[in-house]
Amino acid sequence: MSAKPYVSLYDPKGPARGLRSLGLFETRFPLATRGSIPGLERIWEKSKDMSWNPKKAIPYATFDQSKYSKEQLDAARLCWSRRAWTEYTGITEVPCMLARLTLDGQMPIHAKFSLAAKIMEEARHCEASVLLADAMGGYIEEPPPGDAIMKMVIAGFRDRMALNPEISPIAGMVAWHIISEGIALDIFAARYKRTDEPVTREVIRLIMQDEVRHVDMGWIFLEHFFPSMSAAEVREIEEVVVDIVENVEMKGFHSMCLLTDSETSVMRQAEAIAGEARLGFCSPEEEHIAFVRSMESIRTRLAKFNIRIPRFPELEKVA
Ligand SMILES: [Fe+2]
Ligand SMILES: [Fe+2]
Repeated sequence: MSAKPYVSLYDPKGPARGLRSLGLFETRFPLATRGSIPGLERIWEKSKDMSWNPKKAIPYATFDQSKYSKEQLDAARLCWSRRAWTEYTGITEVPCMLARLTLDGQMPIHAKFSLAAKIMEEARHCEASVLLADAMGGYIEEPPPGDAIMKMVIAGFRDRMALNPEISPIAGMVAWHIISEGIALDIFAARYKRTDEPVTREVIRLIMQDEVRHVDMGWIFLEHFFPSMSAAEVREIEEVVVDIVENVEMKGFHSMCLLTDSETSVMRQAEAIAGEARLGFCSPEEEHIAFVRSMESIRTRLAKFNIRIPRFPELEKVA
């Protein structure tokens, strides 16, 4: 039996399959590897220099369970399991954006290198969260049955933009990194401030160290491409930005502080208990303040690029 002939993705008459069936095509050659974006080059260098191993970098064995009640430990291990589920989402969605970018040989090579590193970084955030949940009493493999969290942990970046040929990879990169990674970082900063348990603090610190680069990627991309963008291209970014704010972040992907009371969630109660115990989370009030302030600062910075985020009543300034 002879092997099936390889059909190039370049062949316009070839069968639609793989990424091509999604309307995405290979144009990798000529493959540009120079004249890239210096900011992204710096990110790639830092990613290599600042690597850490979740198993070796964090002294999980020193976590002292005897200082906490069973209720506090159960709440915290559920919340850190949720952190692992959220980080896992990154592992499934970053490769889709990377695949998209790598089809095009003219997209900045250091964006691809940085995304390749980001897959590893989200993977270690997932692993660190699992190991911390284990130290607190045991990682939990799935959300409580019927909990509102189920629809929040899958953000949908893959279908929304990474593999959506109607959304340019530039718009996807900018919106995802500035909004979602930006909110994630600010929420982490608030939780870090509140946390006093040393092992938990170290997990948050190391994750934040990586997340700073993820946020920077979005701003560097925007600053680089903005001067050559048409008004329509800027509007496209705005549309994707608003979609992520409204349909991902305000729906609880990184923070549940905007959930309505009718969305009863065991996870919300667990976060309140874990926050009270200072095990890596905030009170709902503190988290709401952090979320609103994060949105406000992103809104102000994006306005300089003519990208407007509408005023949602839930995001109005807090004292
Ligand atoms: Fe992460
Ligand atoms: Fe991230």
